Amino acid sequence: MEQYVIKGGNPLYGEVEIGGAKNAALAILAAAIMTDETVTIDNLPNVRDINVLLQAIQEIGAKVERVDVHKVKINGSFIREVSVDNEFIRKIRASYYLIGALLGKYRHAEVALPGGCDIGSRPIDLHIKGFRSMGATVEIEHGLVVAKTDRLVGTHIYLDKVSVGATINIMMAAAMAEGKTVIENAAKEPHVVDVANFLNSMGANIRGAGTDVIRIVGVEKLHKTEYSVIPDQIEAGTFMFAVAATGGDVLVKDVIPKHLEATTAKLLEVGCKVEEFDDAVRVISDGKLNHTQVTTLPYPGFPTDMQPQMAVLLGIAEGTSTVTESIFENRFKYVDELTRMGATIKVESNIAIITGVKKYSGARVNAPDLRAGAALVIAGLEADGITVVDDIYYIERGYEEFEKKLSKLGAQIEKVSDEKELQKFILKVS
Ligand code: UD1
Repeated sequence: MEQYVIKGGNPLYGEVEIGGAKNAALAILAAAIMTDETVTIDNLPNVRDINVLLQAIQEIGAKVERVDVHKVKINGSFIREVSVDNEFIRKIRASYYLIGALLGKYRHAEVALPGGCDIGSRPIDLHIKGFRSMGATVEIEHGLVVAKTDRLVGTHIYLDKVSVGATINIMMAAAMAEGKTVIENAAKEPHVVDVANFLNSMGANIRGAGTDVIRIVGVEKLHKTEYSVIPDQIEAGTFMFAVAATGGDVLVKDVIPKHLEATTAKLLEVGCKVEEFDDAVRVISDGKLNHTQVTTLPYPGFPTDMQPQMAVLLGIAEGTSTVTESIFENRFKYVDELTRMGATIKVESNIAIITGVKKYSGARVNAPDLRAGAALVIAGLEADGITVVDDIYYIERGYEEFEKKLSKLGAQIEKVSDEKELQKFILKVS
């Protein structure tokens, strides 16, 4: 089992390049099979979830040509079945995008029920409500979501809760439905806009993405395109918070600063300096942080995917802070691990009350999910002594070469695969 081993205490300096947005790329890859022409997608992050989805679309017959690690060509004309199931796809949440894509194109989809990080109950009732209101029958049969119809017809859909997944999924199916679909109370996340732009570049007719009303006029066919995925705001935010925690001065490159506004606002509140450029942000921190309050909200609010990283920062900020999680009910599973590193955190319902300590102390901890895993790495970078993070499988679902990018900034971190390598690292750094 691979682990990260970290010797904390080094401030971070230099430049880091941010990759393409995992959550945008997952939806775009699924949407790419909706045309029979060849689609080229660039700026893909080379992470586990992306590779699982590529494998799945290949298994149903799509031709996938890896031009390089960040670029693929996909041709959906060879698809011979609409049933997607394997042990890996069951573990990723974004498998649900194949329902919208296949239903839109073939009027029939059978996809394994989505898994993903265990951060609370993750229903897909809103996705199903959307497909049903477009005329599809949707049933759960033997662990698969089976959706089919003879006619997929545009309609008016109100989402009871703001959902990124449901918004994108319904938008994909509607792109090839008959007539007009209106999605109200739609999610406004940058990746919703990116998927809409991608579909439009294939000939779809989608207006209003990025606002809470999206209007889609279905088209009969989609065509080839070349597209580059937007930068990953969560990867960027994670590096920005790492610098804030350890102290230092880092230029985070290849980002869209507007997408980082909520993250930047919190960094300013805790006492860091942030400079914005056209496609980069510079974070300067002396490692001394002030307390604050934060509540996760749909975009443009503070992202739930940055919540554990924020808690790690506040764990070493002066005074008492609160973190309120309003999207997922089970997103404080890292608190016990962080407590083992010396944090003082009390969780009451969906609020974490954090009393800052001077410093974390290195310990052996488990990554409970993707973002919490990254947050524990940040704690390890700041901590006294050695931290070992187990279950880094989760972190690799969403961060490409995380330890290499951090090392380049001056962190002492290595990926090890056995006790011998671990001891070798400890000997080297002590
Ligand atoms: C996506 C992201 C995830 C991020 C989340 C919120 C992917 C693959 N994952 O997840 O990283 O944390 O957005 O920004 O892109 N809900 C329902 N019924 C549904 C769907 C959702 O009740 O049918 C609820 C969820 O339980 C949650 C809220 O709506 O409380 C938001 O979920 P949603 O935006 O759909 O998140 P995901 O698409 O699963």
